[in-house]
Amino acid sequence: MKNFNDSVIYQIYVKSFMDSNGDGLGDIPGITSRLDYLEKLGVDYLWLTPVFVSPMNDNGYDVADYYKVDPSFGTLKDLEHLISEAKKRGMGIMLDMVFNHTSTHHEWFQKALKGDPKYKDYYIFRKGKDGGPPTNWMSKFGGNAWGYVPEFDEYYLHLFDKTQADLNWENQEVREELYRIVNFWLKKGVSGFRFDVVNLISKPDEFVDDEIGDGRRFYTDGPKIHQYLKELNRRSFGQVEDTITVGEMSSTTLEDCVRYSHPEEDELSMVFNFHHLKVDYDEGDKWSLMDFDFQALKDIFDHWQSGMDEHGGNMALFLSNHDQPRALSRFGDDENYPKESAKMLATTLHMLKGIPYIFQGEEFGMTNAYFTSIEEYRDVESTNYYNILKKEGLDEEKILKILQAKSRDNGRTPILWNSDKGHGFTTGTPWIPFSRKEGVSAERDLKDENSIFAYYQKLIQLRKENPVIQSGSYEMVGKNHKKLFSYLRTLEEKRVLVISNFYGEQVYFDPAQHGLPEGIPENYKVLLGNYDALSWENGKISVRPYETMVLSIEPHK
Ligand code: GLC
Repeated sequence: MKNFNDSVIYQIYVKSFMDSNGDGLGDIPGITSRLDYLEKLGVDYLWLTPVFVSPMNDNGYDVADYYKVDPSFGTLKDLEHLISEAKKRGMGIMLDMVFNHTSTHHEWFQKALKGDPKYKDYYIFRKGKDGGPPTNWMSKFGGNAWGYVPEFDEYYLHLFDKTQADLNWENQEVREELYRIVNFWLKKGVSGFRFDVVNLISKPDEFVDDEIGDGRRFYTDGPKIHQYLKELNRRSFGQVEDTITVGEMSSTTLEDCVRYSHPEEDELSMVFNFHHLKVDYDEGDKWSLMDFDFQALKDIFDHWQSGMDEHGGNMALFLSNHDQPRALSRFGDDENYPKESAKMLATTLHMLKGIPYIFQGEEFGMTNAYFTSIEEYRDVESTNYYNILKKEGLDEEKILKILQAKSRDNGRTPILWNSDKGHGFTTGTPWIPFSRKEGVSAERDLKDENSIFAYYQKLIQLRKENPVIQSGSYEMVGKNHKKLFSYLRTLEEKRVLVISNFYGEQVYFDPAQHGLPEGIPENYKVLLGNYDALSWENGKISVRPYETMVLSIEPHK
């Protein structure tokens, strides 16, 4: 299997990227109209969030027909056109396959509801227990994970929304259906796939209460997960050389991720995990307010980078996506140092070992939404939790503060292409309000050679030109430094040192303290940085607020 280490992937949240017909919703022709922009950025693949027919209770992650494009996004012709236009510009399209569950509007589920035994076995139906659901498992979007069907006096499992019914992968026919879908899209010329929460597909033989948790320990990285992924690979994308795949792995382990992504395992090209994005969950609770724990962020990255490096796994690198608040608002300072901190976060991520992902808008500094009323939120998880927190007795102001920091809608506001009324995104009314942060736009960045966008272009180039960034080993430097995140990448004689200051205060980096060559400018060649030149003081580097740098260590003879 190919390793894709020289590639950079760009994630498009279709609904919010570009609206071509004025209905306020992003669509496929909209994406095609912005391909030149993406080519200019220099990315290799475009991952589109689901574009299939869907009632949109979870914005397309509730698929009702995997073979058809949802009319709100365009037509199959539009998608084919996008695939070929992207190809002309050297970019491949990756589709998002939601195979843990379907929408309850899917024909299969509808037939199941009518009592057709064939289709009932496509899902996970069970009898209740003691007048309630079969187990106490919780849905990831709040509430119990079982939906009651009075006609059968039975429950179906839904790990997500009640309109997202979990598929029964034990059933060979289900798996065959899913391979057919992947093969259908491969024939249309797509270059790869992202598999949604794919490490949850293998459920246990027996369903029992979880006395110590929400049930996830029973179905995460489940008993047959590796067997299923190998079969999926063999029966579909594994047949087409160089297909790129990434699996979204929820609450997973390093050991499993090595297996999911090791080239010799023939499962997937790479994996996402989320441990590093829980460092601002107070006692593990997402719906709380807490500054991020910098030491934990470093420790988690270090654990995963070292472990994947040592055992040959491939990591998908990301700080933002459509399920997360914007990294710039979360880990940077979008008020006082927006440019510096956006570049710093990008550098820290892109120079790590693995394959970097850019989430739309990140490349020119988009921030959180800063919504001030519940009416502005659209996400099912946010609105569910708004109600849950209300019931728990939290006051409105506190809940809105939590949503401002944690809601998935923070990453879902429409792209600010320019500063016109519809921000170049739409001529109509956007489906969700624009971010309230002013002044940020793609247009502004394109005019400025020191912009965040220009910096991303350089980061991408740097990866392409330097094998040490693509495949060098990784080692953290200064594990306990309170403000700096620093690491070395090494490939044979080549050594690259990355230093990033995650705070608004100046600190020192002393090479001597880490067994590195003497701290003189001659030994450290700057490949990239977000300040004009390095600031040396008595053999130490003075690292200014949110400063970041990529240095090639070239000891002076
Ligand atoms: C993944 C998706 C998320 C979706 C969920 C259920 O986590 O990224 O947006 O809600 O799966 O499909």
